[in-house]
Amino acid sequence: MPRTPFVAGNWKMNLTKASAIDLAKGIAKAAPADVQVGVAPPFVHIDAVGQAVAGSNVHLGAQDCYFQKNGAFTGEISVEMLKDLGVKFCLTGHSERRHVIKEPSDLVAEKADAVYSGGLTLIHCVGEKLEQRDANETLDVVRSQVNELTSKIDDPHRLVIAYEPVWAIGTGRTASDAQAQEVHAFIRETLAFIWNKDFADRVRIQYGGSMNPANARGLINQPDVDGGLIGGAALKVDTFLAVCNAARGTI
Ligand code: PGA
Repeated sequence: MPRTPFVAGNWKMNLTKASAIDLAKGIAKAAPADVQVGVAPPFVHIDAVGQAVAGSNVHLGAQDCYFQKNGAFTGEISVEMLKDLGVKFCLTGHSERRHVIKEPSDLVAEKADAVYSGGLTLIHCVGEKLEQRDANETLDVVRSQVNELTSKIDDPHRLVIAYEPVWAIGTGRTASDAQAQEVHAFIRETLAFIWNKDFADRVRIQYGGSMNPANARGLINQPDVDGGLIGGAALKVDTFLAVCNAARGTI
């Protein structure tokens, strides 16, 4: 089952408005057309970045959202507001939200439901901490995080899973190609168990965690790795485009 690789840049809490616009324009100018390319700026830059990538094949994304549609939720941003600015995809369950901001699993699940049922593409992030890997709990952790998704999801093209081992995020330590493939294959089996094999074969599973131009091709060449969720290397035009280009021809 051919799956178009999806490479998304997660800009986290970085960049001024001017530098975000420059980065977006540089990516839009040269993003390959045969790979799905996306950028997820901080909320306050989404509008400006959306204008900078308008007319290009770069998809606009968000790093988070709240699950309610509107109302008295100070500081929060709804899926409707994101759609109004042209956002096409939204992350849920990123490890920094789970472990740094302390977002509980039931809130992650509500957000994932809101993103998908609101009509956006959902990038649902899963991954184990180092002590969980050392205790052989990786597959259990990943299974329970995949199980945050509801089987109401019926369009496999609007569901993306990002496998991001927490010990590899921002550390310069990457999972080996074989370690990534093992967990990606397990995630696909888990999806097939919840839905069915045909559905699971259509879902893109990104790898995230210190992916860069040097290691991207080896990882994305693995049979169940369908692109990347990129943090540090997404903050420079050259390194991000090098990762996007590494994903070409890996189908
Ligand atoms: P990193 O971040 O590439 O800087 O490790 C990836 C992520 O957190 O999505």
